[in-house]
Amino acid sequence: MRDRPAPTGELRSLGPTELIFSTTDARGVITAANGAFCRVAAHEQRDLIGAPHNVIRHPGMPAGAFRAMWDTLQAGRPFAAYVQNLAGDGVAYWVYATVTPLGDGYLSVRIGPAVERTWGAAAGAYGAVLEVERAARADGAGAAAAAEAGRDHLVQLLAGLGYADHDEFMHAVMPQEVLALVERRRWRADPAAVHGPAGDVLAACLLVTVELEDLLLRLDGLAHLAERLQAVERDALGAVAALAEVTLLASQASATVSDTAPVLTSTAGAMSTLGDEVGGMMTALAPALAGARRSVLRVRFLIALARLHTDMVVDVAQEVGRGEPEVGPEHLAQLSATLRDDLTAATAELAAAAGVLRAVGTDLEQAHDRLRRTDRFLATWRVQVPRYQVSRQLAPYVSPIDGRLRMSHEQLGAMRDLAQACEREARPFDDTALRGLVDAIARAAEGLLAPWPAGAAAGGAR
Ligand SMILES: Cc1cc2nc3c(=O)[nH]c(=O)nc-3n(C[C@H](O)[C@H](O)[C@H](O)COP(=O)(O)O)c2cc1C
Repeated sequence: MRDRPAPTGELRSLGPTELIFSTTDARGVITAANGAFCRVAAHEQRDLIGAPHNVIRHPGMPAGAFRAMWDTLQAGRPFAAYVQNLAGDGVAYWVYATVTPLGDGYLSVRIGPAVERTWGAAAGAYGAVLEVERAARADGAGAAAAAEAGRDHLVQLLAGLGYADHDEFMHAVMPQEVLALVERRRWRADPAAVHGPAGDVLAACLLVTVELEDLLLRLDGLAHLAERLQAVERDALGAVAALAEVTLLASQASATVSDTAPVLTSTAGAMSTLGDEVGGMMTALAPALAGARRSVLRVRFLIALARLHTDMVVDVAQEVGRGEPEVGPEHLAQLSATLRDDLTAATAELAAAAGVLRAVGTDLEQAHDRLRRTDRFLATWRVQVPRYQVSRQLAPYVSPIDGRLRMSHEQLGAMRDLAQACEREARPFDDTALRGLVDAIARAAEGLLAPWPAGAAAGGAR
């Protein structure tokens, strides 16, 4: 292995449709690297295999970003992030990297980043995190403590951008990057050009991409729903406070005219009991809405990851078919196993999200009905004010109550719409065809590891 080069300041891009893959053991020592990886990283494959993955680490990457990566992986979950790497010739290159647990090690698939807004945000955050890590080291912190300080600062910066944590950032970004990739790869590989089990894997994968189209189309609807869940969650607690204020005001106003218009006091009393109930429901709803949003974002992430891995399997199947030296049937078998796990995880998460959305939809409907009843009491109270000729005495109280009544229409409409959207997005996804295809891929992948009949692979794969 060559010494680590100094950055030349030059930048290299991945081809727009190019996918890099590598596998590592549990400690991050590279066990496989495809041709695209070797070319972009300007390393011979024999130099990469057996080397730790930090061989391509760029000094501009903060340790905190990798700390976040290892934390996630060690919790058994896939990870994704923008990463700047340094090739063997000193040229830097950016990737959007995904890393997935695979048996005792990990699998990484990387693409050229395309979503400028989030890529720029990540690059900017890394610069600031690096400063924090340097300052921590200057203050005597060890490498591990500086990396943790960096990770925490990264999370803080992401919070400033509206993401609760790193998971939320990657769940939001990954589908955007993968959808951009899918747009760039609008060609179809020809399974007939690849013979033997690799061709079978390729054919099944192409059908998987068709099935996944359906799921991908749902990504937009799910993204929109996630945004609305966040907006209603934000408004829910504000609405509780506003309602409590108005019911209190109506009770106070009623007390000042209890002699002349006692009916106002009883209307306000009924309203306040209902208002308390709505308050409790809305307060409980806020975390449920946040949970539903997280679930929706996770589904989008898993669907996008499955789609990315499908494309990776397609490329490797073709590389194996062409007999390219960097990849062999065993890599295709490994990737197929990962894809099978992805699809299983994505469909399971989809079913779980559907359950969460249905429950939230029902809660929203109930809260909506109670809120509407409370507002009806408020409207009745408001009509009673002129009827019992106390408008003049109650004039100072009336205007905020009228404000609430104006707002209530809008708020009730938003809640009802969201409940319906939850119901719509909760519709089950029929994964029968997908599961059949996954089985077909798994069978073909098993065939890959069996001895191949003579002449089965075009170009004589290894
Ligand atoms: C599958 C996998 C892929 C990885 N890909 C990269 C990569 O592209 N660039 C990189 O700098 N580190 C990558 N890493 C992380 C490195 O193993 C290492 O943690 C990181 O470079 C920080 O190095 P250091 O802890 O020696 O400072 C990867 C790790 C795994 C498990």
